[in-house]
Amino acid sequence: MTGALAGLVLSLGMIAPPMTAVAAQGYDLDTASSLQVVVNKHRQLSPTGYVPGPLVAVQGERLRLQAADAYKQFAKAAKAAGVNVLPISGYRSFSQQTSLYDSYVRQYGQATADTLAARPGYSEHQTGLAMDIGNASGTCALQACFANTPAGKWAAAHGWEYGFVIRYPAGAEATTGYTYEPWHLRYVGQAIALDMHRTGVATLEDYFGLEKAPDYLR
Ligand code: DAL
Ligand code: ZN
Repeated sequence: MTGALAGLVLSLGMIAPPMTAVAAQGYDLDTASSLQVVVNKHRQLSPTGYVPGPLVAVQGERLRLQAADAYKQFAKAAKAAGVNVLPISGYRSFSQQTSLYDSYVRQYGQATADTLAARPGYSEHQTGLAMDIGNASGTCALQACFANTPAGKWAAAHGWEYGFVIRYPAGAEATTGYTYEPWHLRYVGQAIALDMHRTGVATLEDYFGLEKAPDYLR
């Protein structure tokens, strides 16, 4: 590249608008029924009692159709590789999330509960796009050590191929507001999951250029 051309590329880069390529592709991050909706402590579901459209049963748990299809493929491929992945918790209604959150508050107090479970109206589980997974043996269920188990390793290595991201990665609490959840898979679609894998961007907030959401605004 000539010096002049390099200079042009550099200056074009510097005047590029602060918009990510994906945002420019027009993903809908705001609508509760969007497969790319971003829900976090700053981005409450609207309406807060949102109930997703057709939910499909997957081994006793439910997911949105697209997420369920992807999950089935994911679990089938895992099984073919000798890894038994089991669904633990998929879709949760507002009232189920309320019960879960309240039980964490009673057990750990509100500050800790807020790092473990979303308040009702703020959970990805309410969108039908998130699935908590475990090993058939139950080893390290819903614990950080799940990452070192066969199902945890499979999810980290291959989840992206089926359109899933590990939504609450290690070391991202300042962005997501949640401790490491290697078991919580969020369906975002293959294009985004592949791009996040390829670029190494760990959170949806960073990928879409959204503000960090460590705490609730109110
Ligand atoms: N454990 C995740 C943050 C939830 O409750 O949605
Ligand atoms: Zn979860």
